[in-house]
Amino acid sequence: MKNSILNLLKREEDFISGQKISEMLGVSRTAIWKHINSLRNEGYDIQSVSNKGYKLITSPDILTLSEIRPYLKTAYIGRNIVHLDTVDSTNTKAKEIAQDINIQDGTVIISEEQKMGKGRLGRAWVSPKHKGIWMSLILKPDIAPSDAAIVTQIGAAAVYEAIKDLGVEAYIKWPNDIVINKKKVCGILTEMNAELSRINYIIVGIGINVNLEKEEIAEEIKNVATSLKIEAKKHVARKEVIATVLNNFEKYYEKFVQENDIKQVIDLCKQASIVLGKQISIISKGKEIPAKAIDLNHKGELVVEYEDGKKESVLSGEVSIRGFNWYA
Ligand code: BTN
Repeated sequence: MKNSILNLLKREEDFISGQKISEMLGVSRTAIWKHINSLRNEGYDIQSVSNKGYKLITSPDILTLSEIRPYLKTAYIGRNIVHLDTVDSTNTKAKEIAQDINIQDGTVIISEEQKMGKGRLGRAWVSPKHKGIWMSLILKPDIAPSDAAIVTQIGAAAVYEAIKDLGVEAYIKWPNDIVINKKKVCGILTEMNAELSRINYIIVGIGINVNLEKEEIAEEIKNVATSLKIEAKKHVARKEVIATVLNNFEKYYEKFVQENDIKQVIDLCKQASIVLGKQISIISKGKEIPAKAIDLNHKGELVVEYEDGKKESVLSGEVSIRGFNWYA
């Protein structure tokens, strides 16, 4: 009901009377008053004038479906949003929610902050309140588990394009980072629950540092992390960025699951790659091996050439890479 009232207020440019809301939605005026107060507590500035009714003045910077919907063009990705004020990790929450076999494909868990955000390889992901996009997509594709790694590349392409729309030059550091000016602005953590030949669900966790100021970036990652605000030199509307990421994601994901076509994503990831053509180190099972990154294959695996001339495709889950001149 609260959302229906909010939608009415959003549609109406002028005041709308309590009587009219009550007739349109079939609720009592006392109930409307309660919902209006609850919306005010969420940060909505709603003016009320006797004999005129209610008018929405401003909306808060929160990532609820009501706030994101005006920018969303998807058919199903992000059409069901679980919005939380705080959580340990949206990936962990998404895994809990995905246990329900009836959960809608493309459900997105968004939290305004994470207390224990998770990065790759057991690292922590700092996720302060209202400062970024901390979200996890629940996907249930009918594909082989061995093809699942490509969704990380779809996520990277979707975020990369959304950042480009802001007029900021970004790069993709295979397999899961987006970097600007050699500093990381986004990381992706993909997790999967599968049987040998069947995926139960995939969780694509995306963290984007949006409106953090320089001094809000934790000391230990200051040299390697940045935010969209620092790079674009202006406040960035989180709701527009998140909708663009979801719109882009669905466009590429649909092509992949319906037509098995991933060419556009791979081309984009190659074109935006900060890794290809560079001397890197492949860090695997405690060993660090020098290699040259030469290509990205159709499965989204990085093709590298070792010093002895031997070539190999490396899978994202298996390795970490380190460049010689830029951040690890
Ligand atoms: C990395 O670069 O190491 C991956 C970082 C992934 C962070 C996101 S934030 C939303 C989602 N929930 C988590 O706990 N982690 C991912």
